[in-house]
Amino acid sequence: MVTNGKSWEKRLGGGVDKLAVDFVESLSYDVRLYKYDIMGSVAHSRMLAECGLITEDESGQIEKGLREIEAEIARGEFEFNKLHEDIHMAIEAALIERIGEAGKKLHTGRSRNDQVATDMRLWMRDEIDTLRGKITDLQKAFVTLAQKYTADMMPAYTHLQRAQPIVIGAYLLSFVEMLERDFCRLGDLRARVNVSPLGCGAVAGSTLGLDREMTAKELGFDGVMANSMDGMSDRDFCAEFTFVCSMVSIHLSRLAEDMIIYSTTEFDFVHIDDAYCTSSSMMPQKRNPDMLELMRGKTGSVAGSLMAMVVMLKGQPSTYNRDMQEDKLHIFNAADVVSACVDMSRAIVSNMEFKVKGIAKRLEGGFLDATCLAEYLVKKGVPFREAHGVVGGLVAECEESGRSLGEVTLEEFTIACEAIGADVYENLGAGNVVRQYASAGAGGTEQVVEQIGDWKGRLSKR
Ligand code: ARG
Repeated sequence: MVTNGKSWEKRLGGGVDKLAVDFVESLSYDVRLYKYDIMGSVAHSRMLAECGLITEDESGQIEKGLREIEAEIARGEFEFNKLHEDIHMAIEAALIERIGEAGKKLHTGRSRNDQVATDMRLWMRDEIDTLRGKITDLQKAFVTLAQKYTADMMPAYTHLQRAQPIVIGAYLLSFVEMLERDFCRLGDLRARVNVSPLGCGAVAGSTLGLDREMTAKELGFDGVMANSMDGMSDRDFCAEFTFVCSMVSIHLSRLAEDMIIYSTTEFDFVHIDDAYCTSSSMMPQKRNPDMLELMRGKTGSVAGSLMAMVVMLKGQPSTYNRDMQEDKLHIFNAADVVSACVDMSRAIVSNMEFKVKGIAKRLEGGFLDATCLAEYLVKKGVPFREAHGVVGGLVAECEESGRSLGEVTLEEFTIACEAIGADVYENLGAGNVVRQYASAGAGGTEQVVEQIGDWKGRLSKR
């Protein structure tokens, strides 16, 4: 049995099993909340003084003591003791040891429950801002790369089968769009995160007249959570955060998968810089895209955090249960993994090249112009379903004779469909197709140049 000097030892009759000490602690990971814990405690003590629950002098001593502890932790000199369970107890115990009587008053009208909820919200607010900045940097890297490729083409794929030709910039900008939704999701979440649970107490608030608006304002929250039972135990924001992180991670994983495929000898579309490849310990010729594979692999861990979060919440009775202590493991993991993956993606995208010559050489394979030909027939008055059938027949014939659609003679075309005229050839071949794109957001130069202009304007304002 170990005794820990906690105030509740009077209630619990002595020490706890050593196994329990190790099992219950969160200090090993919630230590990273220390800055936020001190921020919350300073605001709380100022409010206690303002409300006449402690004196100005006591509040001054508390603040001074907390600042000293903060500096000590930052310098790595603070002595942590896991008997204190978590960062909240560790800091409070150190404060009492340092300043005595006044320190014992800090926890007035407060519970660790609202403390941990407050700390996590403050941490997440900063994390969201950092992550949004990193996402913006990655978007900018994509736009810069897209600017290089507004004319060079590549095939667009569906089902990983050649579909229609696009300019490479169109492909790159598709990721800017995905990341923009992630950026906005984080912004939406920030508004829900930025409300104060402080003052909700253990569950039902306090009989002391606490000024919750004051602490909320002091901590930069937009308002206070209206219901104490909900306020101290809401973890929706943790589930949402792990979901948004999963979404970012999934987007990057799909990018990684594309790049892995595109960098094979079979595709040979992109060159990933040597700085982001490794070799084989046995096969001397190898350039393996390990960073990309790890990005794809790490997505499992982020999605795992989301799963852990929602399953952890689902069976709990109302308000706080110790199950919730584990929430931090999941939000920290999701944040750390995603932040590293966004940085890595930015580095890779900023240093990659498309092998445009090789792509162009093989661009006429796979009938990328078939849809454009069908739409040409529509412009000549042929109903689309009929046009689809005509082109399907022509493609089958070409496949037999080993030709592209551009190699079909006008005579053969008119036999297949009399609506076809000599102008058909302006619709065949990847270059012609890309020039024909006319709908907003299509994969042509015109649309891509417009999107690049739009993105540059939007991203420069961030
Ligand atoms: N370390 C705990 C956590 O992270 C703090 C809250 C403990 N509250 C309690 N009622 N035991 O959730």
